[in-house]
Amino acid sequence: MTFPEGFLWGAATSAYQIEGAAREDGKGLSVCDTICLRPGAVKFGHTGDIACDHYHLFREDVALMKQIGLQAYRFSISWPRVLPGGIGTVNEKGLDFYDQLVDSLLEAGIQPCATLFHWDFPHALYCRGGWLNPESSDWFAEYTKVMAGRLGDRVKTWITLNEPQVFIGMGHMTGEIGPGEQLNFSEILLAVHHVLLSHGKSILALRSELGKGVNLCLSSAPRVFVPDEETPECIESARQKMQTIDGDTSTIFHNTWWHDPVFLGTYPEDGLEQFREYLPNIKTGDMKTIHQPLDLFAFNNYGAERVDVKGEIVPPLPGCPRTHFGWTVEPSSLYYSSRFFFERYGKPILVTENGMAGIDWVSRDGKVHDPQRIDFLERYLGEYCRAAGDGVDIRGYYLWSLLDNFEWAQGYSQRFGIIHVDYKTRKRTLKDSALWYKKVIETNGGIIGT
Ligand code: FCB
Repeated sequence: MTFPEGFLWGAATSAYQIEGAAREDGKGLSVCDTICLRPGAVKFGHTGDIACDHYHLFREDVALMKQIGLQAYRFSISWPRVLPGGIGTVNEKGLDFYDQLVDSLLEAGIQPCATLFHWDFPHALYCRGGWLNPESSDWFAEYTKVMAGRLGDRVKTWITLNEPQVFIGMGHMTGEIGPGEQLNFSEILLAVHHVLLSHGKSILALRSELGKGVNLCLSSAPRVFVPDEETPECIESARQKMQTIDGDTSTIFHNTWWHDPVFLGTYPEDGLEQFREYLPNIKTGDMKTIHQPLDLFAFNNYGAERVDVKGEIVPPLPGCPRTHFGWTVEPSSLYYSSRFFFERYGKPILVTENGMAGIDWVSRDGKVHDPQRIDFLERYLGEYCRAAGDGVDIRGYYLWSLLDNFEWAQGYSQRFGIIHVDYKTRKRTLKDSALWYKKVIETNGGIIGT
């Protein structure tokens, strides 16, 4: 299997999930810290207080990345670590940490890719209304400017937001993750509008600080539908299902509600019609602000839902392959999502997360054997490569995740890493999948069988 020339191989993490040092060196609290204090919110009462202790062990982690041969590393910046109150006073020690991380990545020959927001919203700003506050987009733009000013000379790939569908859907609708709100649908659409404006203003700030030669994008969490059978009719049903709004106000996982404003500059007509009674006040100029030119269509990919020729969802078969999390294994998810998004928006594709939770432990031989992860990744990568064969412009792949880490409401019970972390000693052990990934990178995917 051969991936396009120049294809970028990386791995991803996020600040709250790995850094720890939650109350050190002047860091402010985020809604991820505070949700952990709520009884029952996180499995086993786990918290991200120490996590992988990456804040102190980042040099060791960068050395491991180098050993694996990573070409790129996607990390996120903790907003309250650098701006403890979310806006205003800057925390130099927080900035120093990211400075040093970026320098050590570059020294190791690894391209840094920075995500500005991976869910750890400053608690101080949450107390002022969070994403419901009309000023939230200006707060985010201010924070963006601080980071672009500090790291922009060395970081050339920036992601504004990670999975807005999830931090709104699970953070503000079902309440499963921080800040654990359950807002009504009108409030949700208002928050979404502010989030989209934040993205737009952040891109404007990045472009004005960084100029040309950078890659700017947003990491989406699309709801993916794949055809139950690969017939032209069924493929068309899946395509339609992915780009149609079905009027469901119990979820915000409506693909076009997020993507059309960002890439086309309009909310989709069917959604405007169906959500009429819940719409926020969309001011003149808002859509223009949201619709900033992006360099890539970036998204995270895990499972998918199957649909039949009528567009009806086909429930997973009993006993079908599932990861430890319970998510179904649907490799064609990566093929169809890449293809459908490339068709609709015409942007090069970047996968910013893909991977699985397994039941991994250190064996008696001192190694961590995770053959299922290797098989999972080979299947998904195979489908990603198939998309390239069918003309989709694919640019890179970030495996989720570099390290086992704090998996939100699941605490440490889900291990997604290609590096095992012992949470007692913080010892890192490369899993078999890390050694396999090294060969994948060396051969640009050549070792993956067809
Ligand atoms: C994604 C998140 C990431 C991680 C993976 C498993 O939704 O972006 O932080 O939790 O799922």
